[in-house]
Amino acid sequence: MNREVSELITWSDRFSCGIKLIDDQHKALVALVNDMFNHVTGDEKQEYEYFNKVILEVFKYVKIHFAIEEKIMLMAKMPDYARHKRAHNQFILTVIENINNFQAGKRFNLFGFTKYLKDWILSHIALVDKQCFGSLSRVNE
Ligand SMILES: [Fe+2]
Repeated sequence: MNREVSELITWSDRFSCGIKLIDDQHKALVALVNDMFNHVTGDEKQEYEYFNKVILEVFKYVKIHFAIEEKIMLMAKMPDYARHKRAHNQFILTVIENINNFQAGKRFNLFGFTKYLKDWILSHIALVDKQCFGSLSRVNE
């Protein structure tokens, strides 16, 4: 099995936070990351072309998703709102910095970038979001 295939994410219940809207958006994010892994060819030019085609869409989706999570947290008056929002903002800033570096000519590596997205998204979903929205979905039961 090549390393891209072995990095593909399979959705599992342990990622579920119990709120369908958020879980559905997390599944869509996982699909976007998997699509990125599927476009790793090792050809820097080809990978960068693909990246340029999809990154804005991915970025927009992430921002909309974070905004929805933050709105739910605000409405539910969740105590962790500020910290959670900071984590989102930090991730956004890191992604922007990476995109800027690539556009400025930094060597592009689709695998490395996608792996960063995967690791951050999965740990955020499985720990922060699950703890945050899991408690909310239990309250509503
Ligand atoms: Fe989150």
